[in-house]
Amino acid sequence: MCGIVGYVGPRESQDILLAGLARLEYRGYDSAGIAVIDGEGSLGMRKKAGKLGRLREALEDKPLAAGTTGIGHTRWATHGGPTDVNAHPHLADDDRLAVIHNGIIENFSELKAELEAEGFAFRSQTDTEVAAILLGREYRASGGDLAAAFRAVVRRLEGAFTLLAMHEDHPGLVVGARRNSPLVIGLGDGENFLGSDVAAFVEHTRRALAIGQDQIVAITPDGVTVTDFDGAAVAVEAFEVSWDAAAADKGGWPSFMAKEVSEEPEAVAKTVLGRVKDGGIVIPELDGLDELFQGIDRVIVLACGTAYYAGLVGKYAIEQWARIPVDVELAHEFRYRDPIVGSTTLVVSISQSGETMDTLMAVKEAARLGAKTLSICNTQGATIPRESDAIVYTHAGPEVAVASTKAFVAQITALYLLALHVGRVRGALAPSVAEESIDELEALPAKIQWVLDNEQERIEQLSHWMGDTRSVLFLGRHVGYPIALEGALKLKELSYIHAEGFAAGELKHGPIALIEPGQPVFVMVPSPRGSATLHAKVVSNIEEIRARGARVIAVAEEGDAAVLPFADEVLRVPLASPLFEPLIAVVPLHIFAMGLATAKGLDVDQPRNLAKSVTVE
Ligand code: F6R
Repeated sequence: MCGIVGYVGPRESQDILLAGLARLEYRGYDSAGIAVIDGEGSLGMRKKAGKLGRLREALEDKPLAAGTTGIGHTRWATHGGPTDVNAHPHLADDDRLAVIHNGIIENFSELKAELEAEGFAFRSQTDTEVAAILLGREYRASGGDLAAAFRAVVRRLEGAFTLLAMHEDHPGLVVGARRNSPLVIGLGDGENFLGSDVAAFVEHTRRALAIGQDQIVAITPDGVTVTDFDGAAVAVEAFEVSWDAAAADKGGWPSFMAKEVSEEPEAVAKTVLGRVKDGGIVIPELDGLDELFQGIDRVIVLACGTAYYAGLVGKYAIEQWARIPVDVELAHEFRYRDPIVGSTTLVVSISQSGETMDTLMAVKEAARLGAKTLSICNTQGATIPRESDAIVYTHAGPEVAVASTKAFVAQITALYLLALHVGRVRGALAPSVAEESIDELEALPAKIQWVLDNEQERIEQLSHWMGDTRSVLFLGRHVGYPIALEGALKLKELSYIHAEGFAAGELKHGPIALIEPGQPVFVMVPSPRGSATLHAKVVSNIEEIRARGARVIAVAEEGDAAVLPFADEVLRVPLASPLFEPLIAVVPLHIFAMGLATAKGLDVDQPRNLAKSVTVE
């Protein structure tokens, strides 16, 4: 949560900061602000509650003087409501020093009390201002040494933070620090950048450095210095950003989400690309880990939200192909329940952003307990992969819309690649099954595309007709169950209506009481050719709810005539074998959620109260 950008160089910084914030706005959009040191060496600042557009208007009304050193922030509120005064930057040292922050400073009340006792006054309710005032005090005490003052401050902070600061005594210098919150450096020619992620600067440079935990960076136009919190130099990892700026642009689509749903076929294809060789799965990132995979007796998958549902789907594949028991757990629940984990446990975390604090903390806890950790992640240089023993990247490209879509199908794809790889290494996978599964994986992008080409319009119409619906239920069995959960989550987060997903077999144990005449229910119908038994059971479940007046929208295989008499609407998907159905069947649900929210006039890219990268617990 919160997006951070910093710039030093020869160019006018405001344009660079605002463009960077536009790309980071998915991280939070409660308020936005920038501070710039102008040509005269004076620090100017504008900040405004609301989305970035409000800040742009404020800057048009009252422009800031041009300057080539600056920092910018887009906020997801934690301490202190989303008001102008709580927006970042926060100023100190007679408004000559500006600070922005992402994260939560857990000991802020005690630090605030200390500063108040010394006579310092506060304008906002934020924890960030405490860091700013503390930095101002340390700056004075150090005789004007910004780097030394910054080190003194970060050593006193507890919690999670990325902090950036600049002082008008030091034009051409921005300092930053990180603990459990993201910060990356962009390397330009005669200019340098800082960002919460590479999206902040990818239009200017694809050369990047990942900053480790508890490290401080100072950027000037000509140099970058990275140290630990005590000032000792540390080595940093350089990487090349693998996507270009155009990948993070809307490119003519009405929303990022529309673009990203259209990219679902590509997200699967790119995640498979280069990982199938001579009819087998090859994951170069996992070279040398065969012994580890042979030695494990259990897999725990940790994730949150949509990534957790991808994990639930992955469980079926890992158990079926690799024959290892798999538990899938919400990361925030895992950490606080004294889990039984040891050196023969493989903990697989799934995170699009690679920064989700709940997942990060759970991974760290698992590592502390002796587990081996493997991360499935979509973001290069992010914290969770850096904290893990092994990484399998999804190649979905940048996902900007807050609600995850293309990353979800890429996550399932990566889990399937992992399951096939581990199954082979452990000798659990019959070569014929491996071969068929690889064929299925490679055929998926075309099947997803088929849904987009043939069903999108009809699903959008359906969602428009259903614009007034107040509640929608989703049912599924087997791998269809996590898809029902995902369909419900997407609908509630985008359209703000009640939606719930159930295992179809569970309905008769209670939730069927919710069914009343006209209640819309989406049912994920498994292929009769994949499993006649499962299919028959789901058709019975449909009959049960139809008998009570439900309006049934079946997501069913093309040619499945058995559902026709029982469904009010049938959304068609191409045939796939059971394990591969979720990757196709989720697409109509993503389109539906997006369509219904659009019909209600809502912003599908930035739903209320949410942020894409949840870096608080
Ligand atoms: C829902 C959604 C969230 C994320 C969750 C985990 O559409 O996007 O539920 O899936 O916050 O985020 P990552 O994958 O970044 O760890």
